[in-house]
Amino acid sequence: MPKLRKVFYKSRGWNVSRGIMRKTETVRLLEVLEDVARLDHIENKTFIEIGTARGETARGIVEFLTNLKCRSRLYSFDIVDRTRLWQRYFGKTSTRYCEARHVVMSGVDGASRIAYPPESVVFVLVDGCHCRECVAADIEAWAPLIVPGGFFLFHDYAESEKEIAAVGPQPYHGEDRFCGVKEAVDECLPENFERLGRRFSLFTAKRKT
Ligand SMILES: C[S@@+](CC[C@H](N)C(=O)[O-])C[C@H]1O[C@@H](n2cnc3c(N)ncnc32)[C@H](O)[C@@H]1O
Repeated sequence: MPKLRKVFYKSRGWNVSRGIMRKTETVRLLEVLEDVARLDHIENKTFIEIGTARGETARGIVEFLTNLKCRSRLYSFDIVDRTRLWQRYFGKTSTRYCEARHVVMSGVDGASRIAYPPESVVFVLVDGCHCRECVAADIEAWAPLIVPGGFFLFHDYAESEKEIAAVGPQPYHGEDRFCGVKEAVDECLPENFERLGRRFSLFTAKRKT
């Protein structure tokens, strides 16, 4: 994939250098974005990220979509207000092709409260709260909005109990619990999504019908 590699290095591996995603996950993310950008019948595509944090992955997504000249908008949701960091990045990033917005709202509220143009949601990356209940709620809220051919991605999907144990319990909603991304995806992802598997801990599914 020479083109992907070129963009990857040109963007200096944005989220990789910060340790947000591994290189292999970022390359997978770029492959998915390239695939989605080819859905020519959708003129203005909607991309969703649940969990903005410092906006590093969002910035990479915008850079890549701009590079692909993909007319799009990215909504990145976070329950914590990240506006100041967001402005620092997005003040400099070209938005000629991709208009990006940070929205202070949970992913679930984002699905029900914002009116997306019909048949426009082509990509949802779930990287917010990693407890089983929240990931299951994100799946329930977003699965119906993704168009056939669109992608549903989950970060921090770990394959084995050993990997989950290695990360250890995290403070979720005031309680120490283990990461529940894998459990939620395995149990709740609807049948009309083809499970394409994982690249390290980035799990990808594609809507069939
Ligand atoms: C792992 S970080 C996201 C990293 C980011 N996606 C990146 O790659 O740069 C998780 C973020 O999700 C946010 N978060 C937690 N629960 C959430 C929810 N229910 N909806 C949206 N964001 C949430 C946290 O505040 C935190 O900033």
